[in-house]
Amino acid sequence: MLSLLILNGPNLNLLGTRQPKVYGKTTLSEIEAMCVSIATKAGASATCVQSNHEGALIDAIHDARAKHDGIVLNAGAYTHTSVALMDAIASTQIPTVELHLSNIHAREEFRHKSYIAPVAIGQICGFGPDGYRLAIEALVAHLSKA
Ligand code: DQA
Repeated sequence: MLSLLILNGPNLNLLGTRQPKVYGKTTLSEIEAMCVSIATKAGASATCVQSNHEGALIDAIHDARAKHDGIVLNAGAYTHTSVALMDAIASTQIPTVELHLSNIHAREEFRHKSYIAPVAIGQICGFGPDGYRLAIEALVAHLSKA
């Protein structure tokens, strides 16, 4: 059975109350429960991890080598700053889908740059919590082809 890591970065623990006009009212726990159920329907298992710390996210990517076949990554603001996260994905070669709730390309210019995009299989953004479903389905389809 395919094993997926759903990895959420800084400030995503505040979903539900954080800037609801941008990120909606769904909480991270609700998103994580949805991810587990969608992964199960797609014939995979999902483990959900969130951290506000760049190093902890890198450790989670390294640990995923032994445990998971693919990653759905919402790196939050580290998307736009972290060469180290980009290197972690490039170094482990774990197939990764980049995910954002908001459409980062329609927002401030500093959000248009993603360090994750060049090392990801693809990017999904702008669909709110439903993006996690799209990302899981895309990742499972990708991994099933491999
Ligand atoms: C985000 C977009 C990022 O620009 C922002 O820093 C976040 C959330 C999103 O899911 O839309 O923290 O990744």
